[in-house]
Amino acid sequence: MQARHRLIAAIDTDDRDHARALVARLASEIGGVKLGLQFFCAHGPDGVKAIMADHRLPLWLDLKFHDIPNTAALAVRAVVALQPAVLTLHASGGLAMLRACVQSVEQEAGRLAVARPRLLAVTVLTSLDQLDLLSVGQGYNIKKQVLLLSTLARDAGLDGVVCAAEDIDALRTQFPAPFLFAVPGIRPAWATANHDQKRAMTPDRAVSIGADYLIIGRPLTQAENPTDAARRTALEIAAAETGARA
Ligand code: C5P
Repeated sequence: MQARHRLIAAIDTDDRDHARALVARLASEIGGVKLGLQFFCAHGPDGVKAIMADHRLPLWLDLKFHDIPNTAALAVRAVVALQPAVLTLHASGGLAMLRACVQSVEQEAGRLAVARPRLLAVTVLTSLDQLDLLSVGQGYNIKKQVLLLSTLARDAGLDGVVCAAEDIDALRTQFPAPFLFAVPGIRPAWATANHDQKRAMTPDRAVSIGADYLIIGRPLTQAENPTDAARRTALEIAAAETGARA
């Protein structure tokens, strides 16, 4: 895979024109556009279509579905028509919810004769650390919690997980390809802020320990020159891949 195809830009804004302008500046340097709750809540499916109409990049629709199985399955079904390449669900919704979503997405993609979106399970948010987990009653060590949720995702038939890059180390051998690891909380060496990401890592390190996709938002979208920031990030990824092959 070319380095830039691993780079998924998180377009977190509710300003449709700004989103469009950002994607136009990033399109030649990235491998996918991630639209999440902020954009979707403001502009809905039509807004998503408008952003995706200008280019041929894969859509990562990061709505992190989490509800009872029936409701979650009907909700994911409703977005298949947008032809996302990837949809996200919270693994903590449980095995029945995950299975119901897999089945629902498969059926709807078949009915519409479109490619089945890949489903990724969010494990432990990269904005949470061990103390945060404890405060919501999840007493396991983070790595154990990520292992538990990744196992659940695999058993339910999902295509991979979203986790912190630092969690992959312990998991990659147990979850070989084609199981996918997508990692947010990525901060290039030149980025000056971690923002609310408590478990951040550089792109080259994340790729060298086995990340398939890097989800990067503010270091690109808030850069003075987003195109240049994305290009530099892809170069960091390429360098890590070359190092891994050497
Ligand atoms: O701006 P930043 O690079 O921190 O953006 C990270 C993106 O990844 C955000 O869109 C956020 O919603 C998403 N994300 C995350 N942690 C997860 C799953 C998704 O930060 N576990």
